[in-house]
Amino acid sequence: MCGIVGYIGKRPVLPVLLGGLEKLEYRGYDSAGVSEIVNAQFEVMRAEGKLAKLKNLLSENGKLAAGENKSAEGVNIGIGHTRWATHGRPSETNAHPHLAGKVCLVHNGIIENYVELKAQLTATKCVFKSETDSEIAAHLINSHIEQGLGLFAATKTACSEMQGSYALVVMSLSEPDKLVVAKNATPVIVGITPDESFIASDIPAILEYTRDFYVLEDGDFAEISRGAIKIEHEGVAAERKPITIAWDPITAEKGGFEHFMLKEIHEQPRVVMETLRGRLDQEHSNVHFDDVFFSDDDFAKIERIVIVACGTAWHAALTTKFYIEKFARMPVDVDYASEFRYRNPLLNDKTLFIAISQSGETADTLGALQIAIEKGAKTLAICNVVGSTIARRAGNIINTQAGPEISVASTKAFVTQLVAGYLLALKLALVRNTLSADELANYIDQVVHLPKWLTAALGQEDKIKDLAQEFSKSFNFLYLARGLLYPIALEGALKLKEISYIHAEGYPAGEMKHGPIALITEETPVVVVLGHDDGNYEKAMSNLTEAVARKAKIIAVTDLENAHLSKLAHRVIAVGDIPSQMLPIVLVIPLQLLAYYTAICRETDVDQPRNLAKSVTVE
Ligand code: M6R
Repeated sequence: MCGIVGYIGKRPVLPVLLGGLEKLEYRGYDSAGVSEIVNAQFEVMRAEGKLAKLKNLLSENGKLAAGENKSAEGVNIGIGHTRWATHGRPSETNAHPHLAGKVCLVHNGIIENYVELKAQLTATKCVFKSETDSEIAAHLINSHIEQGLGLFAATKTACSEMQGSYALVVMSLSEPDKLVVAKNATPVIVGITPDESFIASDIPAILEYTRDFYVLEDGDFAEISRGAIKIEHEGVAAERKPITIAWDPITAEKGGFEHFMLKEIHEQPRVVMETLRGRLDQEHSNVHFDDVFFSDDDFAKIERIVIVACGTAWHAALTTKFYIEKFARMPVDVDYASEFRYRNPLLNDKTLFIAISQSGETADTLGALQIAIEKGAKTLAICNVVGSTIARRAGNIINTQAGPEISVASTKAFVTQLVAGYLLALKLALVRNTLSADELANYIDQVVHLPKWLTAALGQEDKIKDLAQEFSKSFNFLYLARGLLYPIALEGALKLKEISYIHAEGYPAGEMKHGPIALITEETPVVVVLGHDDGNYEKAMSNLTEAVARKAKIIAVTDLENAHLSKLAHRVIAVGDIPSQMLPIVLVIPLQLLAYYTAICRETDVDQPRNLAKSVTVE
């Protein structure tokens, strides 16, 4: 869950490292550090806190002006890291890079047997300066170099002794024109241009230099020199082709918005169009997925579907279940990846296992996918990052086409996951013949209109800003909904707590009376998400009335306003007449905006909320 970068080339190192780390800060931001080789020595600078602190430190020390730091003829080399603490609190000493003798490295992951390794190394007189597991890797590699191995061999040997997950970038004074990369269960990509080499945890970090990337596989070791890469897998040289990413570097910038989150909320109509592009055949009422390799016959043989995800993606999984059950009439189980993977789940070759993940690197989702593969299930990923581990391992992918999502709070990726789930449900209905031709044509037609409804929902922004102002000092929010909108209530509550730090609970509206109703006072804003024609309106209205009877202040988020609703609710956000199937996708927008503007009122760090990280690559 940390971000790592490395560079070898002719440019001054620090701007490349800092620029990359800035784009990786979403992965962790409790401390940061950089190291380069200057006059045959490591020059390391680290700081507790966000990257800005490190930048100030470097600038105060005149390091950003220099730029002539060559370690060998024509080669500038360095590594950098932004941290999300696992072992050892956030501090300057625990920040990476870590040093040991001739070795300096950055690490993303967890070394599980670090206690045992530390004891062994301490017995050989190694002195540890930090509380981290990562420093062990530096000492291990250095000890192998001292025993006569080259950097590459020393890294491989050390990795054979370590258990756990790692993306390591290792630099050594003994070979100052090389970086060695090792990967296991934590992402790392390499970009090579004719005379430069870039290493990063994620694509946006180095997108301004190249669009062609080598995506390293688990078990890979790579020796990187200026403009060249050699990959070895299981002791054998591996020939890999780089993947080409179509993303425009500008897409990973803020584009005039105050925060990435707001920019990403506003991108939703466009990215939904991207998700739909080339997948709908309105003339023949059909749905196509280029990278899903199941035949109609394969699809028809599926008896059960299991969808697994974490966090926001889990809410997309739940909505997808509702779509599949409604359109294709198939049984669907939805599970948290962290629960699913540890309970010997029931799967077979008639099960379609779907992993939903924005990053494609979430450790628990990946672990669950691995189990599904081992048990012979058919596997499919709904994923935003084409070259990610989950996408590659699943074999079949519906790429959500949201483009890089930088804000830790997921918005546009979620909405495109819902669209992908909707399309998949239609595809299953098609092969299973569970919808009439008219129904199918109608549902396809609805999703084509979705971007304009999303734009209409964004039109509520000013009203939501006022609402946020009014409720930003509340201590508790309740989010209620029924049926297809229930996962959206969960998502609204998660978004609010993630970035505003206000406690919020999402509940099926009918469950309120079984407990949460005790929380309601006149101080409690209750957000009720409801649609006038979704089959649950009357029941949702009854639950809303029950909350009003306890003096709750109701914020109704809905399609159409009516006199009765306006009378009961304190505020109504209405987005216009929209078919009920589309409402989950549209009504989440007001909830995202409510969370965003509440966080703004509370002056929190919207894009990088405390304790969180974008890509959760540890269990
Ligand atoms: O990359 P993934 O979609 O697998 O990530 C899953 C969750 O960690 C993620 O959705 C998380 O809940 C977000 N911070 C929510 O905004």
